[in-house]
Amino acid sequence: MKIAILPGDGIGPEIIEQAVRVLNALDEKFEMETAPVGGAGYEAHGHPLPEATLALAKAADAVLFGAVGDWKYDKLERALRPEQAILGLRKNLNLFANLRPAILYPELAGASTLKPEVVSGLDILIIRELTGDIYFGQPRGVRTAPDGAFKGEREGFDTMRYAETEIRRIAHVAFQAARKRGKRLTSVDKANVLETFQFWKDIVTDVHSEYQDVTLDHMYVDNAAMQLVRAPKKFDVIVTGNMFGDILSDAAAMLTGSIGMLPSASLDANNKGLYEPSHGSAPDIAGKGVANPLATILSAAMMLRFSLNRAEQADRIENAVKAVLAQGLRTPDIYEEGTTKVGTKEMGDAVVQALR
Ligand code: NAI
Ligand code: MG
Repeated sequence: MKIAILPGDGIGPEIIEQAVRVLNALDEKFEMETAPVGGAGYEAHGHPLPEATLALAKAADAVLFGAVGDWKYDKLERALRPEQAILGLRKNLNLFANLRPAILYPELAGASTLKPEVVSGLDILIIRELTGDIYFGQPRGVRTAPDGAFKGEREGFDTMRYAETEIRRIAHVAFQAARKRGKRLTSVDKANVLETFQFWKDIVTDVHSEYQDVTLDHMYVDNAAMQLVRAPKKFDVIVTGNMFGDILSDAAAMLTGSIGMLPSASLDANNKGLYEPSHGSAPDIAGKGVANPLATILSAAMMLRFSLNRAEQADRIENAVKAVLAQGLRTPDIYEEGTTKVGTKEMGDAVVQALR
């Protein structure tokens, strides 16, 4: 099993260092190779996604990505900016399934903006299709309206479309993820209004026949948004399209308090994937040794679960994270009175210690 380690820039190298230490503390040793990406790729090779880095990512079984986008690269032309690296990796590796767990550890219940009883113990997984939908559908543009009530006036237009293959493959990812968790899947659509999402609903229902051990229900996106803030714990796994997923996953992220706690996975059709914290390169705290490494450490756990088939090792890491939170250790982003404030490295130390 080979893991490509892409630290990136900003806080990326600091948080990745801790995740690598955690991986090295497991009984099983993984082959890891590091390559520069984002600002670091630009410094080393004049490009945010150097050819050798892309080749390593393609050859590896999984990619562990830190973050990119330090302010000092803001003035570069768009094609050379750090963020192009993550877009290039998604496209080149065909990472169409974005998995974002929203977990609220009981110890952090005070960090959420929702009442503790509504969110305490929250553990849901949102699966967003990442490469289709209205974000990529053609045709699109601004034109003179050819017909309709506003004929002759300028109009903006986009095209929502999903091919059967795209729906089937994301549905398989979702059912398989649900099978590994609470065995309940909610497919979110707008089938009452949109043809694309009636089709989506029909295909997901068809794929369900291969996963009879998983309970499937369908929910309209407006109701799903409401239920996410009313009773989020009623969900287990949610699967939805690119646009609905963009919005719902950000809403779900905020149920949990700090972005420094949120891992993510982006998978291809063979469960090969790229794993990264949901946050960016946090230039405001880069180099200060205070970034929360837990989102990255939890991303490494997701990598073990989804791409490397090492669910037990993933459980061990997740339990170690719970243990350090129970010990009261907090980086500044999750600090509350009565807890112990620690830095990036001390937090990594504590997770390694808890693993042993
Ligand atoms: P950000 O997520 O980097 O930071 C937002 C806020 O959260 C900041 O106050 C930051 O200090 C804090 N924060 C983020 N991660 C943290 C952690 N692990 N521990 C403690 N605090 C943390 O988002 P922002 O500021 O909008 O973007 C900064 C740069 O990152 C931009 O250039 C953006 O394009 C890039 N970015 C990169 C992503 C990626 O690498 N996949 C994703 C999102 C943004
Ligand atoms: Mg978004």
